[in-house]
Amino acid sequence: MTVDDRVDPRIARDGWAAYRAFVNPMVALRAELLGEPVRVHTVDEGRLVEERGLVEDFHGTQTFGHRNPVVTAAVMEFLASSSPNWYPARVNPYAGALAKALCERSTRTASGDRPAYDNVFFANSGSGAVEAALKLGRAATKRPRVLSIDGAYHGTTMGSCALMKPGMFRDPFGPHLPGCAALPFGDVDALATAIRANDVAALILEPIQLEGGVRAHPPGYIDAACELTAAHGTLLVADEVQTGLGRTGRFLASEGWARRPDCVVLGKHLGGGLVPISAMMTRAELFERAYGGHYASAEAHNTTFSGHALACVAGLATLGLLTDEVITRVARLGAAFRAQLATTLARHPLFEDVRGDGLLVGIGLKPSDHPWLSFEHFGVEGLADQPSIGVIVCHRLYKRGFYAFACGHDWRILRILPRYNIAEATLDRFVATIDEELGVVSELV
Ligand SMILES: Cc1ncc(COP(=O)(O)O)c(C=O)c1O
Repeated sequence: MTVDDRVDPRIARDGWAAYRAFVNPMVALRAELLGEPVRVHTVDEGRLVEERGLVEDFHGTQTFGHRNPVVTAAVMEFLASSSPNWYPARVNPYAGALAKALCERSTRTASGDRPAYDNVFFANSGSGAVEAALKLGRAATKRPRVLSIDGAYHGTTMGSCALMKPGMFRDPFGPHLPGCAALPFGDVDALATAIRANDVAALILEPIQLEGGVRAHPPGYIDAACELTAAHGTLLVADEVQTGLGRTGRFLASEGWARRPDCVVLGKHLGGGLVPISAMMTRAELFERAYGGHYASAEAHNTTFSGHALACVAGLATLGLLTDEVITRVARLGAAFRAQLATTLARHPLFEDVRGDGLLVGIGLKPSDHPWLSFEHFGVEGLADQPSIGVIVCHRLYKRGFYAFACGHDWRILRILPRYNIAEATLDRFVATIDEELGVVSELV
């Protein structure tokens, strides 16, 4: 490895310490206490390299590996050109091309069908795209209320965090947007009651709640949501920031629903993990209803760098990588991986289950009441009521070169989102590693 491969030495000299001092001291401390692979300095065929060796990242933002060469080359080619990146008129051919490609791609499976989506708004984060869906819902329906589902994670803007489960992501920021309410998970009657006054602009849900614990809705719930929202003129919004773009073994997790959601929100790896970009796809008819009145309203919802060329170039390159063959591989590999995990880990008393779809995988662990495994025992009294098991297992996985996390709203569940081009042997090695580590932790209790 040459010095040029590594973090720019001028940055590396005090950048790590400066993060702690000037960005977020608590995050730096947490990462250090948990032994996270922080000082990663190089990328090696999609993996991260730190002092301890190679790290396979399961966070899910780098779907084709860190610094994917195809996306990187597209971005470099664009930067080497003299094309504008930002268009003062907002009329931007790169945004047009990516919007068209996304709309076409989201219906390619149903041959001959009219595209389910023919209008796209680009933002720079998942939260920004969720916000766009909420505003579209209110502006198109002129209704005040927005419903979400208990356990959801929708982001950190004021609108999106109003829809979240009570807790650290929501509680400090009230009073929240009026008209928002979270419905009990999986409760069709509660949905039917909440929606019947025809005053709900939008129902937003994740096809599978990721931070909520990789939770799929119970059978029949999605069908009921499709039917009830249609019957009451409520927009159905699928937040596919985690489930979209092939993660579940389908281009969109919602593509097999009884009716296509009115809006789909995409984010995370749309820019290949290299350039931030997110999207809210909808139908032109809804865009017209919300913003089509006159010239002034056409820009009522926008953001300065919406669809700037660099991000769209990364998005187009990412879509190019996301072939049907790749998505089929995600489905096949995911099913085999989940089955292998379930069979191998069944012997551990701390193991509960394996959940998920495609390469969106959750490993459920049983919380232990052994005092040694409590946060109090580690001197972190503020977390005394949180289960520690997921965090302990992650800590052990870090030392073995796997970067996994516990779900944000449910720390008993490990969220494992491998990249789509991961080698099968690496998944086998992960199964063997977590098997060993669960064995070690089980012996402690
Ligand atoms: C389902 C879902 N929606 C929205 C968001 C918000 O995305 P961002 O963090 O890019 O704002 C997230 C983030 O993890 C998410 O998981």
